[in-house]
Amino acid sequence: MNTKKIAADEAIKLVQNGMTVGLGTGSTAYYAIEGIGRRMREEGLTIRAIATSARSEAQAHSLQIPIVSFTDFDHLDLTIDGADECDYNLNLIKGGGGALLREKIVASNSRQLIIIGDKSKLVQQLGRFPLPVEVVSFGLEKTFLKLKALGCQPTLRLAEGKPYVTDNNNFIIDCQFAAIPDPKALHDQINSIVGVVENGLFINLATQLIIASETGDIQTLNA
Ligand code: 5RP
Repeated sequence: MNTKKIAADEAIKLVQNGMTVGLGTGSTAYYAIEGIGRRMREEGLTIRAIATSARSEAQAHSLQIPIVSFTDFDHLDLTIDGADECDYNLNLIKGGGGALLREKIVASNSRQLIIIGDKSKLVQQLGRFPLPVEVVSFGLEKTFLKLKALGCQPTLRLAEGKPYVTDNNNFIIDCQFAAIPDPKALHDQINSIVGVVENGLFINLATQLIIASETGDIQTLNA
């Protein structure tokens, strides 16, 4: 059973005519974008969208989903995105797909952030998944050491042997903590390091979690 598609198909029911919608990034968000395109074709749904990555924007273009810019709206009505981990307070780790900065900008300009995923994403406490931190390349070595001093095992993300470069021309350091008991405190500590652009902890941003299980059951958690 395709749990990612089941969660995505549930989430896209929330999309209504005339909405401005944030399109997430990743293998789960892929199905949401695909589903929105399908509803536009089959039902005549009209929306406009902002994408959280170059690859989601390319997918939207291929489905004729109109992409607008931030000057074209006051707020997004709804964003549908995946996550690497979600806790029961709807705090998240995101950025496994490297799009955390755009995802957080879009999420923080959206009235509703719907997070979709399979059961493996729902955890009691965040931290098993290494926390992605987007950093500028200048001074990277020092930023790396400052992150390490917070008690994590940092790793510079690589792609084909070279540093992975984000859509914003930055690098990502994946930080493995033993656990993240206080996500808000860690979020603030990391973002106070000069050289850090943003980190993948999403605190008080998600409004709803839609989790699908192998049996096809859907669990919904609201903020
Ligand atoms: C990308 C993300 C994704 O939402 C996250 O990595 C989940 O991806 P997937 O749906 O492929 O498991 O944060 O930056």
